[in-house]
Amino acid sequence: MTRPVVSVRDLVVRFPSLDGSSEVRAVDGVSFDIRPGETFGVIGESGSGKSTVGRTLVGLLAPTSGTMAFGDRDRAAMTRAEWRTERRHYQMIFQDPNAALNPRMTILDSLTEPMRIAGGRSKADMQDTALAALEKVGLRRDMAQRYPHELSGGQKQRVNIARVLPLSPRLIVCDEVVAALDVSIRGEILNLFKELQDDLGVAYAFIAHDISVVAQISDRIAVTYLGQFVELGPTEGIIDDPLHPYTVALLSAEPQPLPTHLRHRRRMTLEGDIPSPANPPSGCRFHTRCPWATPDCASLEPEWRELKPDHRVACHHATEKGMPPLPVRESVSSD
Ligand SMILES: Nc1ncnc2c1ncn2[C@@H]1O[C@H](COP(=O)(O)OP(=O)(O)OP(=O)(O)O)[C@@H](O)[C@H]1O
Ligand SMILES: [Mg+2]
Repeated sequence: MTRPVVSVRDLVVRFPSLDGSSEVRAVDGVSFDIRPGETFGVIGESGSGKSTVGRTLVGLLAPTSGTMAFGDRDRAAMTRAEWRTERRHYQMIFQDPNAALNPRMTILDSLTEPMRIAGGRSKADMQDTALAALEKVGLRRDMAQRYPHELSGGQKQRVNIARVLPLSPRLIVCDEVVAALDVSIRGEILNLFKELQDDLGVAYAFIAHDISVVAQISDRIAVTYLGQFVELGPTEGIIDDPLHPYTVALLSAEPQPLPTHLRHRRRMTLEGDIPSPANPPSGCRFHTRCPWATPDCASLEPEWRELKPDHRVACHHATEKGMPPLPVRESVSSD
């Protein structure tokens, strides 16, 4: 099998809580590989640690513990200079199209900035490369002379994509990149991501609340809950035959209808608020909201089991056929 673009093992990222009295376990023991040229989707409720995973992947945050290998190199074994060179290939695009654009810089200057920081290119080369990147994302070259406020949100997001292309990215972390855009242009931007991937072979970590967006673009999907992955598998498997009760609940809560071939039959409502990541429940973290929970679920942490090919789940009760029928309560019904 080809070597992953990035391999993450037992990743933990903790932050001091606001009053400093405890720690927020934003990411608490996550392991996964991102394969070359794939789209690795990440879904989960607000605060489940999706952005923290993404920021750690591109070196904006340092792991509290765990290992990360980029290509065949262990991050911990790289010198600072080696990491500076390597991390250029791991880029991030944010929800806010303005986040990476300086309002006082022309689009051309914003496009050449990452190349200037990387060094080693002439001014003419950087400008040519920037203009070519602009065309690649579907914008005219004369846009280069404009300022960010003269562009629409969708155009700015295209510029943000163009900014990272000259760095030969192996992985782009896309954190809610279409969430701030008008619904009518989300599809265009998603198509652009797909076209660039076909062309350049770049992998994406695609983080979003909107499951239908993630399902449209992802090869595999990881489902996060309170800083952990509860399920990871091929998109069709996750959407059509989810193994974890939390995934079942997320799909049921989906307001926008999923494409028919991706629609899930079972309904389940998610009750209660997401617990605090500063003080997560014992055993299986989902047990406080899970209709299938038994006493074991409160005391034993479930193992990460591969129940179907390439499809893993952390749940004591999951079977390869999904969840067994609920014995008493009526929380699940079939359409
Ligand atoms: N820099 C920080 N300092 C302190 N706590 C943080 C920091 N960044 C994130 N957190 C906390 O870590 C947890 C996970 O946050 P994260 O932003 O990764 O979640 P998310 O899944 O991306 O949420 P959303 O869907 O709202 O973007 C949250 O409880 C958050 O408050
Ligand atoms: Mg986030």
